[in-house]
Amino acid sequence: MSVGRRHTIALVNQHSGVGKTTSAIGLAQVLARVWRQRVLLVDADPLSSLTERLDVATAARPLLDDCMLGRATAHQCLVAVGDGIDLLPCSAGLVGFELEAINRDNRALVLRQVLEPLVQDYDHIVIDTPASLGQLTVNALAAADELIIPLRCDYFASEGMAELLSFVTKIRAGINPALNLCTLLATHVIDGSRYAQRNMAEIRKVYGPLVADAVISEGGDMMKCYELLVEELKSKRSHKHR
Ligand SMILES: Nc1ncnc2c1ncn2[C@@H]1O[C@H](COP(=O)(O)OP(=O)(O)OP(=O)(O)O)[C@@H](O)[C@H]1O
Ligand SMILES: [Mg+2]
Repeated sequence: MSVGRRHTIALVNQHSGVGKTTSAIGLAQVLARVWRQRVLLVDADPLSSLTERLDVATAARPLLDDCMLGRATAHQCLVAVGDGIDLLPCSAGLVGFELEAINRDNRALVLRQVLEPLVQDYDHIVIDTPASLGQLTVNALAAADELIIPLRCDYFASEGMAELLSFVTKIRAGINPALNLCTLLATHVIDGSRYAQRNMAEIRKVYGPLVADAVISEGGDMMKCYELLVEELKSKRSHKHR
């Protein structure tokens, strides 16, 4: 059975601490361990939490920072991080791209071009992004065909959501019409918390079909939650292509 091939998923939210990096890792692990997929994780956040959490040292190694400035190829930067998952790591030096990009034509398409030679090598590419809607997030959305927006349910989850969705609409209308699947993913869901329940109900009321049935519970079996999410993505894809 297949979970669908060759998808590039960007994890995006301009708020910090919502679970972008955690979800990138969780999705990659489920895709690789349960579905036996070849997965590439891309750290496109200069905070480099993904690179750190996977324990990859960045000294004296070519990084995404270099690829984005045309100083290395993506192939040169790959690091195997277990379970058949590769990482394209980065460091704080990735902010150099944000600065340099100001004067570049086609600056939104640099990450897509960097990843292009790798697309055939992986079933899924999963991109972690910074807590901003800056040039790196634009690049991630330009390279992706799917988008997951993690939302923290232990505080006012939908704050800034209208702006984020209108940003996505603009990307789709302009640089990436192939960005075709958008999923809101509730994270930090505290089982039994009335506040979390109220937030969930509100999100479902406003964003209905965009919201995944799967939620990422706090303290529960997170991997099981990501397994349910992958099942759901698979089903959404098959409905889209019917
Ligand atoms: N579903 C969840 N339930 C509980 N804790 C979570 C959940 N998802 C993530 N966390 C915890 O919340 C913290 C922030 O998560 P994470 O680093 O994934 O957020 P982020 O959106 O990537 O933040 P940033 O924008 O700062 O990179 C981490 O300590 C992580 O372990
Ligand atoms: Mg992060």
